[in-house]
Amino acid sequence: MQIERLLLKNFRNYKEENICFSPGVNMIYGDNGQGKTNIAEAIYLFSTARSHRTAKERDMIPFGQKEANITLFFKTKKRDMKANFRIFQEHAHEISINEVKKIKNSELIGCFQAVMFSPEDFSFIKEGPSERRKFMDIAISQIRPQYFKKLSEYNRYLKSKMKALKQPEYFPMLDVYNHKISDIAADIILYRQEFIQRIAPKINQINQQITKTEDILEVEYESCIPFSNDKNKMHHELVQKLEKSKDREIKEKACLIGPHREDLKFYLNEQSLKDFGSQGQMRTAVLAVKMAQAEIILQDFGEYPVLILDDILSELDATRRKYLLNEIRGKQVIITGTDKANFGKRKDTKLMKVVNGKIIE
Ligand SMILES: Nc1ncnc2c1ncn2[C@@H]1O[C@H](COP(=O)(O)OP(=O)(O)O)[C@@H](O)[C@H]1O
Ligand SMILES: [Mg+2]
Repeated sequence: MQIERLLLKNFRNYKEENICFSPGVNMIYGDNGQGKTNIAEAIYLFSTARSHRTAKERDMIPFGQKEANITLFFKTKKRDMKANFRIFQEHAHEISINEVKKIKNSELIGCFQAVMFSPEDFSFIKEGPSERRKFMDIAISQIRPQYFKKLSEYNRYLKSKMKALKQPEYFPMLDVYNHKISDIAADIILYRQEFIQRIAPKINQINQQITKTEDILEVEYESCIPFSNDKNKMHHELVQKLEKSKDREIKEKACLIGPHREDLKFYLNEQSLKDFGSQGQMRTAVLAVKMAQAEIILQDFGEYPVLILDDILSELDATRRKYLLNEIRGKQVIITGTDKANFGKRKDTKLMKVVNGKIIE
């Protein structure tokens, strides 16, 4: 996967900017608030069909403008691609790929593969479970478009059920919703289980490589019901569980059980990393998670994703930085930071300085 060019028209603090990328390392540097993360955000939009830092799409449109227009020219081993993303004040975004209009989010995801690593990710292990679920959801969607569809369907039903929980006249609908939700949830759990079983050994291996130890880092998927390979069995169990907690759900007006409440647990040498790990151990684990995600994409697509490292180099110590810079050899990487010195000199590097929404060199 390789980005050739990014065209920004009225995107955040960019008026009109055409940014060309080298196939190797692209180092975008500049002071804070100049527009480095904005570039990372624009690129990553094409990988997940949503911003990684806002749920309000309109935030990406400059004040006073009607729309933001972003075009990404990239190539896969098979062909040259042009994807366009338009964000509007008044209505939902529109996507086109190779001039074909009205592309669905689910069709975009999986087309352009990128893995993003940003400073917020450092709290991945420590913080609440939502970021860990988000990781599973993005990483699985990238390799299994069907998963993304299931997840969207699940969220739609959950929304309807939430409405029903708030209005007694809809209570008779709850059984229907619970049945449907259990069916989709069982599929989601199967996908998640398969994915975690695949990625966990890679995360452990990479963690050992970085730390040069024999530490055992385990990742466990905590699903809301005991896992089984038999989907019907899980479906049945979920229905029962939801039935049992119906009164409590009505009382709390909340959907209390299901994939939207699950978590991932990390153990370092059998101890909970979240509770007993040092900050350094957690940082290394996150780096290992990201690199393992990229490897899975390589395995499934035969192409390495574009790595976007937004302002994280200065947050890594020498060992981790060395590991990372060694790992990215021969791959396309977008690195941002305030200091270009952090990076050292390499032949395959393109340096770009950004000032106030303009690339100036
Ligand atoms: N919708 C918007 N319209 C105009 N400017 C914006 C918009 N959203 C963010 N910005 C500007 O973008 C800049 C932040 O860019 P960012 O890429 O986060 O900076 P950094 O280089 O520190 O990563 C700020 O100056 C902010 O005012
Ligand atoms: Mg930034």
